[in-house]
Amino acid sequence: MIDPHGARVLRPLFVEDHEERGRLLDAARGLPAVLLSSGAAASAVMLGSGYFTPLGGFMNRVEARGVAVDMHLPDGLLWPVPIVNLVPGAGLPASLRTGSRVALLDPNVDGNPVLAIQELTAIETLPPDELESMTQAVFGTTDPEHPGVAAFRAMGDTLLSGPVQVLGTSYFRRDFPDTFRTAGELRAEIANRGWDKVVAFQTRNPMHRAHEELCRMAQQQTGADGILIHMLLGQLKAGDIPAAVRDAAIRTMVELYFPANTVLIAGYGFDMLYAGPREAVLHAIFRQNCGCSHLIVGRDHAGVGDYYGPFDAQAIFDDIPAGELAIEIFRGDHTVWCNRCEQVVMMRDCPHGKEDYLFLSGTQVRDMLGAGKPLPAEFARPEVAEVLMEYYRVVAS
Ligand code: ADX
Repeated sequence: MIDPHGARVLRPLFVEDHEERGRLLDAARGLPAVLLSSGAAASAVMLGSGYFTPLGGFMNRVEARGVAVDMHLPDGLLWPVPIVNLVPGAGLPASLRTGSRVALLDPNVDGNPVLAIQELTAIETLPPDELESMTQAVFGTTDPEHPGVAAFRAMGDTLLSGPVQVLGTSYFRRDFPDTFRTAGELRAEIANRGWDKVVAFQTRNPMHRAHEELCRMAQQQTGADGILIHMLLGQLKAGDIPAAVRDAAIRTMVELYFPANTVLIAGYGFDMLYAGPREAVLHAIFRQNCGCSHLIVGRDHAGVGDYYGPFDAQAIFDDIPAGELAIEIFRGDHTVWCNRCEQVVMMRDCPHGKEDYLFLSGTQVRDMLGAGKPLPAEFARPEVAEVLMEYYRVVAS
């Protein structure tokens, strides 16, 4: 199986030993505490689950700057997005010192339980212009209307850096027991199925026909033994479809339209960044960490609005020096329904033109569903459409 990123073995920061975890949770009661942002809490879960191998904790200022500026850590490792615990400097406990330990509290679970313990190797307040240039480098914009920018800028201005011991999985294992999987669990499952090549599909949506065919074409063209449909379970922008509904829709589609034992459905606990190209590289790294040989990157991968060009998230991989990323990228062209072919096609493989194509955007689909209109069969499998229409009926009532 493919090695993890920058390491021979996975480095999950979750404390597996039950007694040790209990001891640390007891000790956390005597520590100063900081309430995490949702984004940092999700990063802690990703660190805990081995997806962010080989990182050992939250990045400091020099590391975050290196990552933002040219996608590399000071030790030369490729990393595209700062993994930071940024908090508002104003509200910090006075007892926090470099060298001390701090309990990190989960903002997404009632009662704000301890999610991790961090050893503080530095406490650094970033000036506004540095936060601004970091935002620009990672998101390609500083527009506060961009949902990822808004979440990043709301975190605060003070970096708490240093190693973490992760003590839980937030709400992810609790709410999605059949879907949430760690990188180690996925490696074990892939080995168990005897798969060698595995193509990963990133998604934050229910899967419509274009997504389905993209997976099928990628499997055929890469010769993969299986497909990992790997869905985001964390926070999304308003209007996106909740994870439980997407999960049900995806399971329905796979059961009815894919051969048995060719698809593994799983989810990971991270908030969507909407960082387009930079997020695509992060997606590639953590799919390598869970044992996949390929990642599908299609049109406007991890994008939002018009902030990124439709294939910017593919082009960014051209600039990664050879040998720095082991996973391969399957580049999908725009995938549409063709009335003349009477099937879903990738535009580059089809001789027909725009007048023969049916393009449906996610926004249009949400509008149709919201208005109680059925989704056309060219766009969604009827059984998938039924799951989505049922959700909208419940939301509307
Ligand atoms: S994403 O934010 O997770 O990328 P989404 O779940 O819609 O959003 O997309 C999952 C993957 O499918 C991405 O790689 C995206 O580029 C690709 N994709 C979605 N729709 C199309 C399409 N019509 N044509 C080509 N690729 C697509």
